[in-house]
Amino acid sequence: MLSKNHVITLKAAAFLSLSILHGTGYAQKIPSLKDTFKKDFGIGTALNNAQIDERDPETTAFIVRQFNMATPENIMKSALIHPKWDTYNFEMADKLVAFGKKHNIKINGHTLVWHSQLPPFIRGIKSADSIRTFFTDHIKTVAGRYEGKVYSWDVVNEALNEDGTMRKSVFLQYLGDDFVTEAFRLAQQAAPKTELYYNDYNNEQPAKRAGCLALLKKVKEAGVRIDGVGIQGHWHVGRVPLKDIEESILQYSAMGLKVMFTELDIEVLPRNFQGADVGQRMAANAQSNPYPDALPDSVQQQLAADYEALFKLFLKHKDKVTRVTFWGVNDGDSWLNGWPVRGRTNYPLLFDRKNQPKPAFGKVIALKK
Ligand code: G3I
Repeated sequence: MLSKNHVITLKAAAFLSLSILHGTGYAQKIPSLKDTFKKDFGIGTALNNAQIDERDPETTAFIVRQFNMATPENIMKSALIHPKWDTYNFEMADKLVAFGKKHNIKINGHTLVWHSQLPPFIRGIKSADSIRTFFTDHIKTVAGRYEGKVYSWDVVNEALNEDGTMRKSVFLQYLGDDFVTEAFRLAQQAAPKTELYYNDYNNEQPAKRAGCLALLKKVKEAGVRIDGVGIQGHWHVGRVPLKDIEESILQYSAMGLKVMFTELDIEVLPRNFQGADVGQRMAANAQSNPYPDALPDSVQQQLAADYEALFKLFLKHKDKVTRVTFWGVNDGDSWLNGWPVRGRTNYPLLFDRKNQPKPAFGKVIALKK
């Protein structure tokens, strides 16, 4: 006769084989991040074109079960939404808004002002007047169109250098360092009911944080509305700067700002710098893609411990942290497979390439049990 334990084991094995055959059903049995943290903060993901287009119903069901907020990974950036001087392309952004409405997912617009992924015509502009016209029309048109349709905007993205000084972008060059305040002023006029944020990477690091605090203070002192600050959270396994993150949550929220983790992922591959400056690249060599088939258990466990520690911290400050957004749904979607070295196999998120939960997911969910 079978013991009770044998029966449980057999049932688990049967469930597992059924799950492999029927992905969606299994996905519905995985605990939901958004439900688990419902009373604490929003849980978001970045979405790519295929996901917004709902090309795969199982993926859509998975996204809807796990996330209640979303940020477009690329389609609202100026190169894509404003490809020519007098031409906007709203097709995918409108689809994203419809996706959010249909599935009850709040959309964070990303991003109105960024030095990267600018339309090609910008390179040909050599006058401050023309840059100002582009800047003003772009913010008014895009923020105005999505007023009442997106929940929030990353108004300005990555305006700072690592030492806290202003990045030498085309906006700084032609409009001067008040361009950040001006961007928020224009966004406030075009989208009076939408939350407005500043977003950056490494702005939990002391020097960059100091520059960021000063920049945001300047916006506030000009009497212009800014509702929150996004810390992107592109970190590295075994090196997540928990103390700096906690200090940042405290200091930003002491300014009266909501604090969000807006592009969370934890890189597991070799890298000689931290951050997300898309202009930076690394040469490929024999060691740069060490785990093409699977992540070794020791790294998997470290990744799980890092995510556990991070979420513990987020929960400790749940009165200040309003959203945690992952930069991608699963490991296969991550931009880190292509940057800073092309063609690597990375494992930075909570779900593997088949949307199966990784040990890190279990640790994060267990914090609420
Ligand atoms: O769409 C073209 C395609 O037509 C072309 O064939 C292909 C060839 O390279 O490129 C495709 O565009 C790529 C685009 O992603 C869409 O996949 C660009 O090359 C590639 O550079 C771009 O990368 C994006 C990156 O921003 C660019 O700056 C990543 O997907 C996106 O995850 C990343 O997101 C940024 C945040 O917006 C801001 N913070 C840092 C974060 C990570 O870099």
